Amino acid sequence: MVWQDAEPPMSPQHPDGHVFYRRMWHTYPTIVRGEGITLIDDTGRRYLDAAGGAIVVNAGHGVQSIARAIAEQAAQIAYVHAEKFTTPVLEEYAAALAEVIPLPGVRFFPLTTGSEANEGAIKLARQLQIIRGHPDRHLIIGRWRSYHGTTLATLAVGGRLAARERFRPMMPDMPHIEPPTCYRCPLGKVYPACGIACADLLEAAIMEHGPERVAAFIAEPVSGAALGAAVPPPEYWPRIRAICDRYGILLIADEVMCGFGRTGRWCAFEHFGFTPDILTMGKGLAGGVFPLAMLAVSGALVEELVAARQDIAHAGTFSHHPVGAAAGLATLRYLQEHDLVAAAAHKGALLGRMLHEALDDLPGVGDVRGLGLMWGVEFVADQATRAPFPARLGVAGRVFDAARELGLMLYPAQGAYDGASGDCVMIGPPAIITETEMQQVVALLAQAIRAAVPVQTGG
Ligand SMILES: Cc1ncc(COP(=O)(O)O)c(C=O)c1O
Repeated sequence: MVWQDAEPPMSPQHPDGHVFYRRMWHTYPTIVRGEGITLIDDTGRRYLDAAGGAIVVNAGHGVQSIARAIAEQAAQIAYVHAEKFTTPVLEEYAAALAEVIPLPGVRFFPLTTGSEANEGAIKLARQLQIIRGHPDRHLIIGRWRSYHGTTLATLAVGGRLAARERFRPMMPDMPHIEPPTCYRCPLGKVYPACGIACADLLEAAIMEHGPERVAAFIAEPVSGAALGAAVPPPEYWPRIRAICDRYGILLIADEVMCGFGRTGRWCAFEHFGFTPDILTMGKGLAGGVFPLAMLAVSGALVEELVAARQDIAHAGTFSHHPVGAAAGLATLRYLQEHDLVAAAAHKGALLGRMLHEALDDLPGVGDVRGLGLMWGVEFVADQATRAPFPARLGVAGRVFDAARELGLMLYPAQGAYDGASGDCVMIGPPAIITETEMQQVVALLAQAIRAAVPVQTGG
């Protein structure tokens, strides 16, 4: 079979109307209701939401207690300016969150998107370095094949080439290192004989750019869509922590996707035995019912600001939002009452076994990897060499489309190979998913892959 490049049709699917869609050539079903892990459109068609949207929905769709908490808060006091007031719900939420987020003396700065939280983390790192007497420390080292957000600064520290390219002249030039990815080691090594040489790349980058110029290192403890849920070897993060400490560099853990229970622990960093200085979270924090993200900082760093008589140099009209706090608190309580973080661990392990069993031997499947309820499947043109499909074939999008036709929603992503090519789909269902639903998800996924992934035929 000859595979055609994925090309958009000649005219947009939505020529009329006033919505500026994210994808003008995409046909959008109109969703009118959500129940559990199911979305229902205006024709009554049902979709299994196996990725919780963009790995967001953790408590499930249509949770009435969370909806009620938001409505009650909105009726009582919906908005105050965070520079002038606090609210009981915000104080209660931060106290409850502090019980599960293991940063010593943690303080929370609520925002609305992961991009904003990471932007704030970067700025805070710079601010702290100036306070510490290091005004030249302005570089933030990031990793290739990472994603930290859609703003110019977060794109600059991120490593998705396709997202960065056209904005490059407008971005600060930040150093990047290769990420840990054992499926396709950037150093051509094999674990464990590699000695975790990928972690030492951080030290090499610090030496290359000068420790006196580096403010922070930012990375995802478990990679998100940009690297299809790649999980680093256990020794990686403690080594990174030690390198940051050696050179006085702040460590920012971006847990916007992998945090807040998704990997089977409240924080993904708990799997790896290290503590970041600054933590960002988003996505599942309010289960998708409210746009909520968080900049979380250890108490010692806040003390440094206080000792310098400074406030954080970050803001936002909707920061510290009372309705966001109500949504976050209700989601946290729901996860606790239904033991959904432990569920993410044990259901995730089961889902992983099911995915391996069903997909490992399928043509075109290169790797199946993940942790907790965050899984990635990477497709390759050649299973022996692990060569990716050309980006223009749009294989991840094809699998997504085929799955949607079958009533299964995935989260497609390209770039796991070199920031542009390298096709993955992510599976990250709400933690309320049942074993039967997991079986359905895996069976439909296998069917979609068989239908959509180009297979090399021998001549
Ligand atoms: C790891 C990671 N960081 C940051 C972001 C940006 O979050 P947001 O889209 O809420 O701005 C994302 C979004 O996908 C993400 O996966």
